[in-house]
Amino acid sequence: MFHTIPPAIAARMRFLEALDKQDRTDGTPRLLRLRQVPAETGRFLALLAAAAPPGPIVEIGASGGYSALWLALAARATGRRVITFEVLPEKAALARETFRLAEVEDVVELVFADARQRLADQMQIAFAFLDAEKEIYAECYEVLAPRLAPGGLLAADNAINHRPTLQPMLDRALSDERMDALIVPIGQGVLLCRRR
Ligand SMILES: C[S@@+](CC[C@H](N)C(=O)[O-])C[C@H]1O[C@@H](n2cnc3c(N)ncnc32)[C@H](O)[C@@H]1O
Repeated sequence: MFHTIPPAIAARMRFLEALDKQDRTDGTPRLLRLRQVPAETGRFLALLAAAAPPGPIVEIGASGGYSALWLALAARATGRRVITFEVLPEKAALARETFRLAEVEDVVELVFADARQRLADQMQIAFAFLDAEKEIYAECYEVLAPRLAPGGLLAADNAINHRPTLQPMLDRALSDERMDALIVPIGQGVLLCRRR
């Protein structure tokens, strides 16, 4: 999966990595910054998504589409689709451009909407990646958890660097009887849950 990243995907990943590095230091307002996962977390997500049971991959928080490109590698390798939600128009436009230039429009669908409203329409989810504003994680968890397929996986980023804000949601997930869960110290920390 990673030994043969298609050139169009690799080129767009490099472009977004450079843009993310730049906008962390050039005074870009926080909401407009890409705030992408590190490449190591992207690889981890792709491995997990490829190992999930059959069904769609869902992401809350596309930003410029970087993590969705990693998920697209898993989707291609396992014959499934990625549905990624983004609520800001500037980011949705950038993500759309990402998926066009990286030539993954056949496996990635961008939904320009608040995932909390639109997820009600989703079928059972095989793999969910939660990477939105930290204040809505708890609500997103309650929307995602019942929609996970048996054996389905939920990964949530920033479980370590935003731990104080996320603590109530982390406590809820780690003691949720529907799940096996732990926090993985990779990147900014990933909460990983598996639906029993
Ligand atoms: C940390 S960034 C995501 C980074 C991206 N996952 C990556 O690694 O490339 C968080 C994004 O979530 C989006 N967002 C926040 N609330 C959302 C919601 N309710 N539904 C969909 N997207 C949301 C924000 O606009 C922002 O672009």
